[in-house]
Amino acid sequence: MTIESIPRTIWWNEGKVYLIDQTRLPLQGDVLVCSTHEGVLLAIRSLAVRGAPALGVAAALALALWSEKEGAEIGSVDEYLARMAEVAAEITAARPTAVNLSWGAERILATAREAARADGGLATEGLRAAVLEESLGMLDEDEERNRSLGAHGAGLLAEKSRVLTHCNAGSLATAYYGTALGVIFSAHEQSKIAHVWVDETRPVNQGGRLTAWELRMAGVPFALIADSMAASIMRNGWVDAVIVGADRIAVNGDTANKIGTYGLAVLAKAHDVPFYVVAPSSTVDFSLPSGEGIVIEERDPRELEGFTVSGTFESGSPEASKAFDMLTSEGAYEVPLAKGHAMTIDRKGGAYAFDAWFRMTPPNINTFNPAFDVTPAELITAIITEKGIVRPDPDYKTALADALGA
Ligand code: MRU
Repeated sequence: MTIESIPRTIWWNEGKVYLIDQTRLPLQGDVLVCSTHEGVLLAIRSLAVRGAPALGVAAALALALWSEKEGAEIGSVDEYLARMAEVAAEITAARPTAVNLSWGAERILATAREAARADGGLATEGLRAAVLEESLGMLDEDEERNRSLGAHGAGLLAEKSRVLTHCNAGSLATAYYGTALGVIFSAHEQSKIAHVWVDETRPVNQGGRLTAWELRMAGVPFALIADSMAASIMRNGWVDAVIVGADRIAVNGDTANKIGTYGLAVLAKAHDVPFYVVAPSSTVDFSLPSGEGIVIEERDPRELEGFTVSGTFESGSPEASKAFDMLTSEGAYEVPLAKGHAMTIDRKGGAYAFDAWFRMTPPNINTFNPAFDVTPAELITAIITEKGIVRPDPDYKTALADALGA
């Protein structure tokens, strides 16, 4: 069992984008095939592809798909660039917190604009070739960055480290290899990891579903815990480092990451445990002075009110195919349960696949479901990037710019 057992997250083949549907992991290993940019957009909105660096690559590949399909129909360079900018804005708006989405889209826009300048603005063919080459290059580039930040981070860990991680900042959150888990994989290869505590990460359970899946595939020893257990585990002295990813880092070092990260940073400080943020340089937003300006995505209350189980009907069973026929004709239907509870079944993706959502709470209650929080820079021991390690500094912006060569 090694990291190589983990399949790639997203790839391009013969004019289509393929991605692992992360909403259906770990029970189902479905691959979504997107032949239009709208397909990738849907995948981003539904969390089929998620995690900041993976979102950056998905944005780039969505634009490449647009360029190869709709863009190929446009003769005028000006019109191609104007329409691409509209599509890029649509992609960027799909999820507001992770900066990588706009970073990926803007990089492809810049590539197209640059190709237009070089081409003298005469033909869109040259632009399309440049866009495709740039977006495909970002897949390998992301993996290289992650392997490099993994090596930097592993150097910070002592022998027999017991680390705690939150959410999924693994291979699935990137094109390949992962950021926080990249450090853990790299340290594991050096036999430095004694144990990983995996926060389940309510309400979407990226830890329990995705991080646990990756660590098991890679043969890294771990135990899953409920988020509320981190405090007592730290108090018991069982954690040597907390290692998390990031969705956006402001230039003063404030860092947005999955909801619950800030609480872990406070706990780490209280128990004198180093708290490391691991992210590629593309996650640093040099336009943002502090974490106060970070827009926090609020998600569907149903994530809090119930839980979803993904499944596939047994294709040979008449009862199952009767149920599936109902789904095909109705799309989704609600099964009334006693005492106002409910179960909704939705057809999902390919043949016989479904999602069943079960209500756990009373109906018609108020909820608040922010998907991210911001950890202030002073609680972060170091930010680990592919270019090196940045430690708190009175002039954090210059320290980040120097380290990243920005
Ligand atoms: O809502 P998600 O699953 O996209 O959130 C992902 C996270 O918060 C990750 O921790 C973060 O993107 C870092 S991924 C390398």
